[in-house]
Order: sequence, then structure tokens, then C-alpha cells
Amino acid sequence: MRPAQVIYSLLSSCLVVSVSARPDFISPIWNRAARAIQKPIDMQENQAPIMDDRPMERPCGKPAMPDASSDATISDVIGKNQNIGIFSGFTRDIDSISSRLEDASQNATVLAPENSAIMALPRKPWEDPRDYETLGANAYHGQDGEDRAHKNLRRFVEAHIVPESPWNSGHKLQTLVGSTVWFLEKDGKKYIQPGEIEVISVKNKVSNGEVWVIKSALNYA
Ligand SMILES: *[C@@H]1O[C@H](CO)[C@@H](O)[C@H](O)[C@H]1NC(C)=O
Repeated sequence: MRPAQVIYSLLSSCLVVSVSARPDFISPIWNRAARAIQKPIDMQENQAPIMDDRPMERPCGKPAMPDASSDATISDVIGKNQNIGIFSGFTRDIDSISSRLEDASQNATVLAPENSAIMALPRKPWEDPRDYETLGANAYHGQDGEDRAHKNLRRFVEAHIVPESPWNSGHKLQTLVGSTVWFLEKDGKKYIQPGEIEVISVKNKVSNGEVWVIKSALNYA
């Protein structure tokens, strides 16, 4: 590419990012999430589980509010936290991830970035600058584009799932995408490494692991 072309493609990808790079399949998740975070924090904290427009996926026999003493899985409880509504929406919309999180024989520690952290990302979690470089503004259009976005989104989510629970301080593990992570404790708080990312709270302890809410997204490049 000549320099002029490079600049043009950078410019056009910036425009696309800010205007319309949102594949159809993602819009419902994103819109739901945007609605969720518009509500004041104190309302979110005291609220019932997220109500979205989709049918309930829970089989009738299961208790409505599973807790650590039952056989609930991460998949049963992750959607109850509105402050991680965007991320939990992603986990439900990616088949391989949702089946991983409902598998009682496979433990996981899910590092779920808060909604505000995902909204603040310099690019959407389904965008990869390399796609714009090679394919230009239409990188996420059409069926191929949708598949590409889906694959990128899956990588983003997999970078936030540690395939073990309990997970001990200092113990280095590989996320589902293969990146190495560990955490350290300081003044009673946990910090994910690398990146010193604060763990805001440990939300759910269930039979196959835990959901940790984190302050910003992990590196998923
Ligand atoms: C699975 O995770 C739960 C919650 O952290 C824990 O109580 C249980 O011992 C774990 N099981 C295994 C086999 O690691």
C-alpha cells in the first residue's frame, strides 16, 4: 500500500468504527446493554434479574433463584448481574461459551468486565483493526462479515474465562484463548495480572465456578 492509501484506510476504518460497524446479530445485545447501563447504579443493584425479550432458558424444574448450595451453574447466574449485562449477553449468544458455562463438570472463573468498561473500549469487542486493514470498511458486512465479527467476539469472551475454580493467588493459568493470567492480592483486593486490573467483586459462587466483576477489559489482541 502507498502511504496515501494507508492513511485513507485508517481514516475510513475510524469512520466505520464510530458510525455503523455493528453487525446485525450483535445489535440486540448492544441495545439491551445500552438500556441497562442508562439506569442509575443504585437501581441496578436492587433489581431483579435482567428481563430481556427472550424466552426463559431455564428448565421448569429448577429453582428460580439458584445459589451456591444448589447445583446451579455459572450459566444460570451470570445474567443476574446488570452491571455486567453486556458481557453476560455475549456469553449467552456464543454457543461454545454458553455450553462451557453450563457444563457442571468443567469449572471456570469468569472475569466479567463491567458494562462501562466495555462501552469504553477503543474498539468494539467484535472489531479487529486487521480486518479493516485487509478488507476495508465492509469488513463486517454480509454473512462472511458476520462470521468474522462472531469469531472476534468469541475471542474477546474467551480471553476473560479462566478454566479453573477455585483459582489461587499467584497461580498462572491460561485463559480459553491461551493468554496467561494470574492475580495478586493487596489490601484485601484482588488485581488481575498483567495489567493490574481491579476485581470489584466476586459475584456468584456456584457449583462449577465463580463470576468476578472486573474494572476494565483484559488485553484481547
Ligand atoms: C468447582 O468450583 C467450585 C466453586 O469454586 C468448587 O467449590 C469446586 O470444588 C470445584 N471443583 C473442582 C473439581 O475443582
